[in-house]
Amino acid sequence: MVKHLVNRQWLLSSRPEGMISVDNFAPAIASVAEPEDGQLVVRVTHIAYEPAMRGWVREVPGHGANLPIGGVMKASGAGEVIVSRHLGFQPGDKVTGMFGWQDYATVDVAGQLLPVQKLPDRVTEEMALSVLGITGLTAYFGMLDVGRPRAGDTVVVSGAAGATGSIAGQLARISGCRVIGIAGGADKCAWLTDEAGFDAAIDYKTDDVSAHLKTLCPTGINVFYDNVGGAILEAALDNIAIGSRVVICGGISGYNVADDAVAGPRNYMRIVNSPSTISGFLLGQFSARFDEGRQRLADWTRDGAIRFAVDVQEGFDNVPATLLRLFHGQNLGKQLCRIG
Ligand SMILES: NC(=O)c1ccc[n+]([C@@H]2O[C@H](COP(=O)([O-])OP(=O)(O)OC[C@H]3O[C@@H](n4cnc5c(N)ncnc54)[C@H](OP(=O)(O)O)[C@@H]3O)[C@@H](O)[C@H]2O)c1
Repeated sequence: MVKHLVNRQWLLSSRPEGMISVDNFAPAIASVAEPEDGQLVVRVTHIAYEPAMRGWVREVPGHGANLPIGGVMKASGAGEVIVSRHLGFQPGDKVTGMFGWQDYATVDVAGQLLPVQKLPDRVTEEMALSVLGITGLTAYFGMLDVGRPRAGDTVVVSGAAGATGSIAGQLARISGCRVIGIAGGADKCAWLTDEAGFDAAIDYKTDDVSAHLKTLCPTGINVFYDNVGGAILEAALDNIAIGSRVVICGGISGYNVADDAVAGPRNYMRIVNSPSTISGFLLGQFSARFDEGRQRLADWTRDGAIRFAVDVQEGFDNVPATLLRLFHGQNLGKQLCRIG
């Protein structure tokens, strides 16, 4: 019986216009739904954040299903099984899955982008939600399958000190490439070169990105892995090599502005004149290969070939405010909030 448990939740209370705000969410108290056959009740300990959440609260169909007003904010996270009606899980198992912004989630094991998974031995919640979670897998398939870096290539990654970009850049380095990261701020740039093994970093807040890319990439960029869009994408297109691959992983610079205010790259003809390819992708396309991705990322992380950073905020009251950190560039590596 779980009905007696008090379940604190954060609900979507209004749809954001422009920059998302804590005022778009409201706290609520609910009971916990009793599990049916095949379901689990999970006590949530960690919430993970993705820029795509800005799309999940939009009214128009976008990246993922629209969340209704009054719905519990959707999120991936980690927690502990307290009731299991699934043969593969026991109370006490530590798991990851799509649990939302709440203390307790009654969930189906399968049927979501991230099915509920037990934490493997020696894997912490922080590791499972970062390098082995949505963003690590996105970097794995986006860089290796879509970007197809070859030894000797020059690879540039934007949003490079974030959860996805930091792993994507290191995967290019492991592939034998020269890797340049673009990130906001001196501390993030220092982390990229000193900790994550990038060959160089450009601080887009103070540097002329296009001019720096020209100097750092004298024979052009072979793979550009873009998380940001806008002016940074234009600066990279100015500097692509013949036959380059431009990977559009995301475009966070446009997530908090109206659709009709997002400008396309002024210099997109560079794709024709190089000639190069530009490819978008969604992580879900690769769901049949998630186990492969997790295994290889875990091996590289244990070997020390991949370094990962997490930014862990604390407390249930801070759950909505922690989302804003992504859009203000306050996170280094994966943004999490611990609530349990
Ligand atoms: N295609 C897919 O299936 C898929 C899956 C997951 C994620 N993604 C995309 O991958 C990208 C990174 O996601 P993440 O979860 O790893 O987030 P993240 O990079 O850990 O955090 C977001 C970072 O974006 C940067 N940023 C925010 N606003 C910006 C702006 N206006 N201009 C330039 N940079 C800005 C900030 O870094 P700075 O301090 O450097 O500005 C911030 O730290 C996002 O675009 C996301 O949508 C795509």
